[in-house]
Amino acid sequence: MSSREKRWSLQGLTALVTGGTKGIGHAIVEELAGFGATIHTCARNEVDLNDCLSQWEKRGFKVTGSVCDVVSKSQREELINKLSSLFDGKLNILINNVGTNITKPTTEFTAEDYTFLMSTNLESAYHMCQLAHPLLKASGAGNIVFLSSVAGVVSLEVGTIYSAAKGAINQLAKNLACEWAKDNIRANSVAPWFITTPLADHFLGNEKSLKIIRSRTPLGRPGEPEEVSFLGSISVPTGGLLHNWPNYFHRWWGDCQWPPLPRSMTWKWFCACIYVYIYISTSRNKIDI
Ligand SMILES: NC(=O)c1ccc[n+]([C@@H]2O[C@H](COP(=O)([O-])OP(=O)(O)OC[C@H]3O[C@@H](n4cnc5c(N)ncnc54)[C@H](OP(=O)(O)O)[C@@H]3O)[C@@H](O)[C@H]2O)c1
Repeated sequence: MSSREKRWSLQGLTALVTGGTKGIGHAIVEELAGFGATIHTCARNEVDLNDCLSQWEKRGFKVTGSVCDVVSKSQREELINKLSSLFDGKLNILINNVGTNITKPTTEFTAEDYTFLMSTNLESAYHMCQLAHPLLKASGAGNIVFLSSVAGVVSLEVGTIYSAAKGAINQLAKNLACEWAKDNIRANSVAPWFITTPLADHFLGNEKSLKIIRSRTPLGRPGEPEEVSFLGSISVPTGGLLHNWPNYFHRWWGDCQWPPLPRSMTWKWFCACIYVYIYISTSRNKIDI
């Protein structure tokens, strides 16, 4: 294999993709498997899981799977124990893909809605990272990819709990990229716009919101899962662009120290101001759908 082919190969690498039976997770499993990775995936519905596994087997993909509800702490622990014995204690890629949504006005959300959405979208991914940390570290080159959303950056009116959880995922990715860089673990967050999956049916199946989504999308259409899985896959070791930025951010911010020294810090202050300006201006954006 040439060095160029090696750079774009995941042969010999292991991956866990949560929620790989439908939508974006399904496309990510196929993308990573197509590059040669050995994958484990999970979902709640056993029939769907077995159906996917037999189709992947026919295509020669190296994919195994477990029935697991990532909302359950004990099932998450069981999943990682199984993964550890399957992959000999080493994991290169963790894709925290599972996510769900309920769309209502904020005043109508119940405490149960809040717990369900936060545990599915945030707590499960947080705990999966904690559980997977020893395996990612042992691999010598670990990568975490979170499936966030544009809703985690700007107001989309898709539900405040989902949006808050996705905003927290973005911040979690930044923090882990800095905290675990010393363990050679990268962390990135991919934030898709509307993608044609069962989760987005609620919006894409509604003529009025589909029209607005199309008008707000430069391509004039929602995205396809394969267009996101490509981003997910370039965030893992073969890629060179996306996965670098959090560590780069870490480098200069880490160099800065706090409080920063006035001497030779001028350009760093300039960068910090630009960053804060971009952050504030994007967080002011609001997109009505
Ligand atoms: N589609 C979009 O427009 C869009 C946009 C921005 C961000 N995203 C994000 O992208 C990610 C994937 O979304 P998607 O649209 O592909 O979702 P989807 O079509 O609903 O598919 C979700 C997958 O996750 C599994 N799953 C759901 N809850 C689970 C749980 N508690 N435990 C284990 N597996 C579970 C589902 O299988 P089972 O039902 O069998 O468990 C399914 O395989 C999510 O984090 C979502 O927030 C999606």
